[in-house]
Amino acid sequence: MTAAERALEGQVALVTGAGRGIGRAIALALAAQGAAVALAARTRQQLAEVAAEIREHGGRALAVPTDVTQDAAVEAAVEQTIAEFGRLDVLVTAAGTASFGPVTGTKPDDWDTMLAVNLRGVMVCCRAVLPVMVHQRRGTILNVSSVAAQRFIPGSAAYAATKAGVVVWSRVLREEVRAEGVRVGVLVLGAVDTPLWDAVPQGPDRSRMLRPEDVARAAVLMVTLPPGAALEDLTLLPAGGIL
Ligand SMILES: NC(=O)c1ccc[n+]([C@@H]2O[C@H](COP(=O)([O-])OP(=O)(O)OC[C@H]3O[C@@H](n4cnc5c(N)ncnc54)[C@H](OP(=O)(O)O)[C@@H]3O)[C@@H](O)[C@H]2O)c1
Repeated sequence: MTAAERALEGQVALVTGAGRGIGRAIALALAAQGAAVALAARTRQQLAEVAAEIREHGGRALAVPTDVTQDAAVEAAVEQTIAEFGRLDVLVTAAGTASFGPVTGTKPDDWDTMLAVNLRGVMVCCRAVLPVMVHQRRGTILNVSSVAAQRFIPGSAAYAATKAGVVVWSRVLREEVRAEGVRVGVLVLGAVDTPLWDAVPQGPDRSRMLRPEDVARAAVLMVTLPPGAALEDLTLLPAGGIL
């Protein structure tokens, strides 16, 4: 692809959860479209590998090790991104975690990490990027939710609550910043074959799940539409019908 053909040439993206799975695939795809990409997650080695892969393909990447449950770390990641690349056009919040079990079989403590990462972490990341996006009068936030928020699967109550929270948070925020030139999209995903499922031995057939690259294509579509068009809620499911 020539620079003229790359839809995100000159733009800058911050992707959380970029070390593996969905976030990694989206980061690689945004970089392939010419965006400079800041990669946020906790595992430094994984971030370094993704950054190296982007650079091998001629792209620009910055690893910003970040725990999204730490507000100051999120603020620092945004500051580092802007210090390195000069602006911030796209936020993708793909950092997330899942654990499953019936409500009676789990303890409140079991829910805390999911609430902190999947919901509060998304909220804090969105809030952190808004000043620069509003100042630019341009920006796209893409939050990652799940069909668990729409299909009521026993054993998923706490996870589903975090993902439903992401949908509603995104829809309200969207109305707050619409007039400022900032778009807020939600990607509602069916099952995707990522390391997230490694800890779920009785989970669905992984060969029938979406691939992370499928999700990345949808994400690229959402962020590369012209500023006057907004794809606000997109549901992407395995065509075969599982989850
Ligand atoms: N896979 C699916 O079927 C599916 C379906 C619907 C929605 N989703 C959602 O998609 C998102 C990505 O999931 P995935 O399947 O790609 O999972 P994954 O392969 O396990 O990747 C999760 C990513 O989030 C990062 N992360 C976790 N906790 C973090 C924290 N406290 N701070 C910063 N980063 C953190 C992980 O890095 P570190 O552990 O190194 O921090 C990793 O990079 C999640 O929100 C998930 O709920 C997944």
